[in-house]
Amino acid sequence: MQIEEHKSLKNFNTFGIDCKARYFASVTSIDELKQILSSEKGNETFILGGGSNILLTKNIDALVLHINLKGITVVSENESHVFVEANGGENWHEFVQYCIANHWGGIENLSLIPGNVGTAPIQNIGAYGVELKDVFESCNALHKKTLQERTFSLDECQFGYRDSIFKTSERGNYIITSVQFRLTKKDHLLKTSYGDIQKELEQKHIQNPTIKDISEAVIAIRKSKLPNPKELGNSGSFFKNPVISATDFNQFRLQFPEAPFYEVSATQFKIPAGWLIEKAGFKGQRFGDAGVHKNQALVLVNYGNATGTEIWELAIAIQEKVKALFGIYIEPEVTVI
Ligand code: EPU
Repeated sequence: MQIEEHKSLKNFNTFGIDCKARYFASVTSIDELKQILSSEKGNETFILGGGSNILLTKNIDALVLHINLKGITVVSENESHVFVEANGGENWHEFVQYCIANHWGGIENLSLIPGNVGTAPIQNIGAYGVELKDVFESCNALHKKTLQERTFSLDECQFGYRDSIFKTSERGNYIITSVQFRLTKKDHLLKTSYGDIQKELEQKHIQNPTIKDISEAVIAIRKSKLPNPKELGNSGSFFKNPVISATDFNQFRLQFPEAPFYEVSATQFKIPAGWLIEKAGFKGQRFGDAGVHKNQALVLVNYGNATGTEIWELAIAIQEKVKALFGIYIEPEVTVI
């Protein structure tokens, strides 16, 4: 295993920010991982997965570990389900496509999400009516300090909306080395109720969609709304959709009856941050090389040479204006370093 010094991370974060790692190593096995974590340089580490959910505003004065653990195995199966385990460094979308090719259902709605399998549980990735937790069986993780390996069950992960134990009480403590999924072999539970999916299938005159049809519909929707990080640096949704109390929601509704919303529970309502940001006038705006995407205001973009600080300053300006106009605080979804 090679340890590089002062390595640019530009190609390792989907925002394409040119920050440097003091040390950098790409790890391909758990043994290598243990070896490097127990070495002197392993005291200060920064774990990098697909780099699709971070905004780098400074150089990282630590050992950056790029988790490059590959491999997919079928652990067990029965008549109706297959239990598949994928290692943390597998690319998420390639894994989704592999499952679809094998006719395993459950993650087709999560097609084209950037990032890796091992980082998917951290924020419980979700799109078009499905979240990772819906198909999650367990994950294996390595404690960075004790080097103990541990399996986390679905309950232990404490999944919430873009949230898990790996973002809260166990933040920064573990490296997720593999994830096991429970997928369907037949009688797939197709989720087509999300408005855009319905529309896309209707346009193609598909009445009885397969999991592949749904995946293709999701890919088409995402391509039309979300920029491809290989062409335009971005990190997907920059902010979470805010969840507000029923009391606050009633007030908000009186003022903005046209705003879209989802009822989370009788006491909680989610407002699309994309709508708030668009109303605040930021959609499609560009400030130097930092900007707000023209088709989806929730996505901040790097037109080429923006620094992480420039993107972050734009994010703060958006937060402040949204707060001033609507009285609602929008929290970043990406991890800001
Ligand atoms: N909207 C606007 N203006 C915009 C963007 C959205 O008015 O610029 C409105 C839309 O018209 C719609 C509503 O906001 O009524 C919701 O928009 P959309 O369906 O695009 O979804 P979203 O809530 O903005 C969330 C996820 C996405 C995921 C989509 C689809 C979060 C933070 N984001 O976005 O996830 O793909 O739903 O399920 O929950 C990601 O996390 O990186 C991500 C892309």
